[in-house]
Amino acid sequence: MSHNITKHHPESVNGEDDVSKNHSGNRSFDEVLDARLARRSVLKGGFGLAAGSFMGAGLMGCVDEKKKADSAFRLGFTAVAKNINDVVTIPSGYSYSTLYRLGDPINNATAAYANDGTDTAASFASRAGDHHDGMAYFGLNTGGTAKDLSNASRGLLVMNHENITQIFLHTAAEVGAGFATTGRVLAQIDKEVNAHGVSVIEVQKSGGSFAVNKASSYNRRITAATEMDLYGPVRSNALVQTKFSTTGEKTRGTLNNCANGVTPWGTYLTCEENWAGYFKRPASASTATSKVQAAQNRYMGTSSSNGSYGWANPTGGDTSGTDLYNRWDINATGAAATDDFRNAANTFGWVVEIDPFAPASTPRKRTALGRFGHEGAMPAKAVAGKPIVYYMGDDSRGEYIYKYVSNQNWDPADANGGLAAGNKYLDDGKLYVATFNANGSGTWTELNVANATIAAGYTTSGFLYNFADQSDVLVNCRIAADAVGGTPMDRPEWADVHPDTGDIYVTLTNNSDRGKTGNFTSGKARGLDAANPRYYDDGEGNKGNPNGHIIRMKETGSNPAATTFNWDVYLFGAEVGLDTTNINISGLTADNDFSSPDGLWFSRAVPGLMWIQTDDGSYTDVTNCMMLAALPGRHGDGGTVSVANTAVPSNGSADQTVTTYAGKDATDATLKRFLVGPKGCEITGITETPDGKTIFVNIQHPGEDTTAANIGTPANYQSHWPDGGTARPRSSTIVITKNDGGLVGS
Ligand code: FEO
Ligand code: CA
Ligand code: CA
Repeated sequence: MSHNITKHHPESVNGEDDVSKNHSGNRSFDEVLDARLARRSVLKGGFGLAAGSFMGAGLMGCVDEKKKADSAFRLGFTAVAKNINDVVTIPSGYSYSTLYRLGDPINNATAAYANDGTDTAASFASRAGDHHDGMAYFGLNTGGTAKDLSNASRGLLVMNHENITQIFLHTAAEVGAGFATTGRVLAQIDKEVNAHGVSVIEVQKSGGSFAVNKASSYNRRITAATEMDLYGPVRSNALVQTKFSTTGEKTRGTLNNCANGVTPWGTYLTCEENWAGYFKRPASASTATSKVQAAQNRYMGTSSSNGSYGWANPTGGDTSGTDLYNRWDINATGAAATDDFRNAANTFGWVVEIDPFAPASTPRKRTALGRFGHEGAMPAKAVAGKPIVYYMGDDSRGEYIYKYVSNQNWDPADANGGLAAGNKYLDDGKLYVATFNANGSGTWTELNVANATIAAGYTTSGFLYNFADQSDVLVNCRIAADAVGGTPMDRPEWADVHPDTGDIYVTLTNNSDRGKTGNFTSGKARGLDAANPRYYDDGEGNKGNPNGHIIRMKETGSNPAATTFNWDVYLFGAEVGLDTTNINISGLTADNDFSSPDGLWFSRAVPGLMWIQTDDGSYTDVTNCMMLAALPGRHGDGGTVSVANTAVPSNGSADQTVTTYAGKDATDATLKRFLVGPKGCEITGITETPDGKTIFVNIQHPGEDTTAANIGTPANYQSHWPDGGTARPRSSTIVITKNDGGLVGS
C-alpha cells in the first residue's frame, strides 16, 4: 500500500515491507521492446504479430473451457457509488451484519470487549485479534461433530489477524505516553503479541443469520506466541536452530498473516508476509558474518532496528525465563546460534498449515514453499493422479511470483488426511519463480541448488552468496530467484485460479518504485517491462504505477505443472477520467474504477465469479477501499497495447513506449463495484458458504489514519465503525446475503 498518512498500516508500519530490497538488477525486457516497437496506438481486438505465433497453440483446445466460462451467471446488482462515508455500502437488495469484531470473545468465559484499552493481554488469547485478513469457511456437519464441507449453515471460519493498530489496543493514558520501541511495557507487548495470529471460530446460522458459537470446542486463537513445528526440507537445518529449539524443529508464533489458502485435504494455510520488520536486528557490518548480512539485507534492508513494536525491549529486560522477548532479537549475542536467536527470523516467512478440525494440533510451517513475504497460497484445481500446485506472491516492490509443485500426485483418498496429508504434499516438491518475457510468453524456473546458475552463487549487497544446500535456497529463495532471472513485479499480492479456464490471476497492487528507465544504479527506479508496463502521474502526484494491475497466466497445455506459460494483463486499475490509451487502458467507468487491487478470489459456488478487493492510498480522496465483482474472460481475449509513458520521472529520462498485452475492456457486465468500506479501512479476506448464498468479508483497520489530529480525543478518530458514536473503530468480519435468498453477486 502507499499511504503516507499513517504509521500503523501493515505495509508501512514496519518500514521494510513494501520497500524494495531487490537490487538484483534483473532487467525486464525494455531494451528488447525498444528495438521492436514504435507504435503508440492501442490495437485491441486481437493480438498482433508479436504475440500471434505463441498464442495460437494456447488458444486451440480451449473451446470446451470457453463454453464453461460463459456461464449463465450475471452480475445483476446495481453498482455501488464511490464514497468516503464511514459506513459499509452494499447494493440495494442486499443486507449485511457484523459477525466478529476485534476483541469479541470466542468463549463464554471471556467478558465482552470494553474497547477502551482495559481488556487484559491474557484475555486476548480468547478474543478476536486485530486486522482481520485472509479467511476460509469449512463446513461442519449438522451436529457440529465432524467435517462436512457441503454444509452452508454451520462451519468453521478461520481467519488471519495480520497486524495491529496500537492506539486502539491500549488505554488513553498509554496512548498519550506514546509507543517508543525501547522500554516497552511488558503487558502491552503481551497484548500486541496475542492480537496477532489466526482465529478459528465456529459459526452457525440461526433465525436466518450467522453468529459465533461461543460454546464450540473448535474455537481457538493462534498467536505470535503459539508453538509451531517446522516441517519440510529446512527442518533441523543449521539456519533454523535457536536457543528455543537447538535441533531446529520448532519456533514460537506466526506473524503478519496476510492472505491465505486452503488444501484439498481440508486444512487452512496462513501466510507470513511482513514479518521482517518485527525483529530487532543489527545494522550491516556488525556482528553477523558477511553471508548473514547479505541475506538479512535482501530480506530486511540494511538498517539496524529495534523492531517495529520493540517487542525485544521490555522495561527491565526479559525476565520470563523462556526468552519470550529475547526471541525477537536476531543479534548474535551468544557463542553459537543455539545460545541466542540470531536465526529466529529464519523461522518466519513461511506458509503455515493449520488443521481447524483438530484444535489441539500444532501448526506446521511448510518450508518447501520457500521463505519470503508471503501474501497467500492458492491452489490449482486438485486432479487425481496429478501434482498439487500452489501459486504465491511475494509482496514487496520488485519481488517475484512463485509456484510450488508437489512431487506426489493427488490421491483423493487423502481428502480427510489432515496434517499428515500436508506432510505428503507440502514437504516434498519443487519451488519455481516466474519470468515474464516481452513477447507474452513466460518461464517457471525451479529454484534448486543443483541448477548451475544457482550453484555458482549470486552477488547480492556486494557479496557472492554461495548456497550451502537446498535449505539455504529455500530460506533465501529471493536470492536464488535473483540468480535465475525472475521478473521483479509491481508487488504481487493475492493469486487465484479460474475454476473453469485454469487461468491464474495475480494482483499487482501498485509500485511507487517503478520508474521508467532501467536499473537500480539510480537508487530507486525500476525499469518498465511488458508485464509491468506503466509509469504515469495520476494527477495527484502519485507516480510510477499507483493504481496497480492484475496479471493473468495460462499454463502451457493447461497443465499447472508446466514450466512455461503465456500471460496478459487482465485488468489495469485506474481512475475514471484518466487517459484511456496509456493509463485507464481497461476502459474503467464510474461504476467499476478502482485502485490498488489486493484481495482476489474466485467463488467456488458460482463458477467464474471473481471478487477483487482493494488496499489503496492513491484514490482515497474520492473513495474508501472497495470490493468489486468480476466475470473475467480468458487469457488472450484482448489485444496488443502500446503504452506511452509520458510522465517525467525524477531522474528526468526520456519517455518510453512499452508494448504489452491487455485483456478485453471491462464493461458493466464484466466488472462492477459491489461494496465500499468505512473510512480508513482496507477490504481484505473473503469466503462463502458452499451454496454461494452467504459471503464473509473482512473490513481491516477502519480508522487507520492515526495522525495526531485524529487521535487526541475519541470524537476525532477517523472512523467509529462498526459501533458508532465515539467508539474506537474495530476490524470486523461482516456477513452479506441477498434479500431474496439468491446467489451473492447476482
Ligand atoms: Fe498484507 Fe500484501 O497485503
Ligand atoms: Ca496490501
Ligand atoms: Ca493483502
